[in-house]
Amino acid sequence: MKQEPRSPPLPHHFRYSKRISSAVKPVVYFICLLLAYSLGYLSSYTRNNYTHNKPPAHVNAVVSYVNTAISSGTEGDHNNFGAVCGEAVPSQNIRHTILERVFKGISPWQNFPPPRVDNLLRKKWVKGWGSKGAVFENLIRKVRPKTIIEVGTFLGASALHMVELTRRLGLNNTQVVCIDDFRGWPGFSDHQKFKDMKMVNGDVLLMYQFMQNVVNGNATESVVYMPFSSGSALEKLCEWGVFGELIEVDAGHDFHSAWSDINRAFKLLKPGSAGGVLFGHDYFTAADNRGVRRAVNLFASVHNLTVQVDGQHWVIHITNPSFSY
Ligand SMILES: C[S@@+](CC[C@H](N)C(=O)[O-])C[C@H]1O[C@@H](n2cnc3c(N)ncnc32)[C@H](O)[C@@H]1O
Repeated sequence: MKQEPRSPPLPHHFRYSKRISSAVKPVVYFICLLLAYSLGYLSSYTRNNYTHNKPPAHVNAVVSYVNTAISSGTEGDHNNFGAVCGEAVPSQNIRHTILERVFKGISPWQNFPPPRVDNLLRKKWVKGWGSKGAVFENLIRKVRPKTIIEVGTFLGASALHMVELTRRLGLNNTQVVCIDDFRGWPGFSDHQKFKDMKMVNGDVLLMYQFMQNVVNGNATESVVYMPFSSGSALEKLCEWGVFGELIEVDAGHDFHSAWSDINRAFKLLKPGSAGGVLFGHDYFTAADNRGVRRAVNLFASVHNLTVQVDGQHWVIHITNPSFSY
């Protein structure tokens, strides 16, 4: 039988260090165990310490609010939020109010464009989604709004289309109030359509390109905008008493964004002689089943309103001028 070759004997110092290392191993394991235990013990001690203390007062307040809401059966009342709106500003003063409150009374188009973005903008770059659908003309003809509020403006395609329509229909004093944070959404400039957009320190320059488009559409006197999140802008409009007869909601399309925007926008609806109208895009895409469509349908059912459809848009008419908010 073939024998395995024997390995040569280890040198003396190597055999010695091997003996030491096998004696040291359990000690090292023990130290590691002890260390892990003390760290775990310390962290759980911190946790226990916190739970043994009383929670801060504001936590108590929230818990008691939720408990009261549950026991009174109003915990599902998530559509009732935000400030009580201020007294209505007359339509002819709305532009001035927003310029004063947002831009310290100075037109944002003064000295536009600033030199640092001048050569980064295109003369005209208006892209949107269903932004010239028949719904815009149908509603403007019907409502003849003095104030249109658009939540979600992007490059201004739908806003500028509405300006064009109001002019064509002889509504020369109608103001379009645009609300957008002008951030788009994460990664939107990777899309083939927008890959040429310039970026400066992470800013995709949407607001400047929108402003350029408004200049190009000769509409700086018909459009005023609020470059903030929809939640904070709508909240402020309510506080300032800025209402509109026609409100388009087309910003965030996930359920919570759409739900919040629709509810806040609803408070700003001023039914004119032909009623007030809330409407928005993307009622039919598969994703909207969980987002926009779900929010619109829930909203309509809470208020016992009817959702109508015009192309890809949802439309809710409020015909009763004494409708209570
Ligand atoms: C679909 S685009 C609007 C398109 C435009 N209505 C049109 O048809 O041309 C959505 C816009 O909503 C804006 N937006 C999304 N979430 C927002 C939020 N929470 N606050 C403000 N703007 C928001 C984005 O910046 C984007 O410009």
